[in-house]
Amino acid sequence: MSNANSRLEFLGQLAGGLAHEIKNPLSTIKLTLELLDEDLAKEKAAAAQRAHRKIEVLLREVKHLDDIVQEFLHFARGHDLKLTRTDLYALIVELFEFLGDDAHRRNIRIHFDADGALNDLVLDPTLVRNALMNLLRNAFDALDEKGGGEVIVRARVKGDLLGIEVIDTGCGIAESNMDRMFRPYFTTKKNGTGMGLAMVRRIVEEHGGQITFESEAGKGTRFIILLPADPGKRGSLKSMVAVDPDTAPQRGEQ
Ligand SMILES: Nc1ncnc2c1ncn2[C@@H]1O[C@H](COP(=O)(O)OP(=O)(O)OP(=O)(O)O)[C@@H](O)[C@H]1O
Ligand SMILES: [Mg+2]
Repeated sequence: MSNANSRLEFLGQLAGGLAHEIKNPLSTIKLTLELLDEDLAKEKAAAAQRAHRKIEVLLREVKHLDDIVQEFLHFARGHDLKLTRTDLYALIVELFEFLGDDAHRRNIRIHFDADGALNDLVLDPTLVRNALMNLLRNAFDALDEKGGGEVIVRARVKGDLLGIEVIDTGCGIAESNMDRMFRPYFTTKKNGTGMGLAMVRRIVEEHGGQITFESEAGKGTRFIILLPADPGKRGSLKSMVAVDPDTAPQRGEQ
């Protein structure tokens, strides 16, 4: 291991330890504030009411801190993949049902374009759902700036590759931000933590896959995930990668 790598690993452990140490005092602060709030709720005086509102603000901030620490710990620890036979078609349909109301409210039309045998793939369904959810939420946010638009999820199995694309007609990504998209904590949103894409990339890589994107500012964005469809061949993706499954080498051609 190089010096730079071992230093990075050491810093990672240190940061993980720090985040862990922050968790306990944070939950004590939260609990104490809640108790204080309960006491104050019984008081009718105006001063007590003001104090109650201030405590609400503190509780919100404590929750925000807690979320940041939790996400950091999830990210730092990585996941134990639980590979299971999964109906990806059903998983995406269910995700669409879940997001349907939100999409409707935001004037967003969502389409699912499925091709090939998606109903019996081996992957970690919880993590893949989480990754797709993050990409779809980002797509929705990108469309909000335009007052709505289209989102397409395209999933295809071809040969040894599973390709999943999430395409939106939203605001697009500024050229100057393209290098930083997957970095933890990179966000352009007022309430974003910037962990979404970092987590998506981690999940994809844990599956032995790759994620890329194409985007044009003002026009839209396409995220492209490539996973090995056959887990027996996991790790072989790099040798057969192509950006589009259409142009990827097929089984038997290699
Ligand atoms: N589909 C998209 N279109 C345009 N910009 C995008 C898209 N997806 C991501 N981005 C940009 O990349 C940034 C990082 O995304 P990421 O999901 O990591 O964090 P976030 O959405 O800001 O916060 P959160 O942690 O809540 O997901 C976003 O703030 C946004 O600027
Ligand atoms: Mg996000």
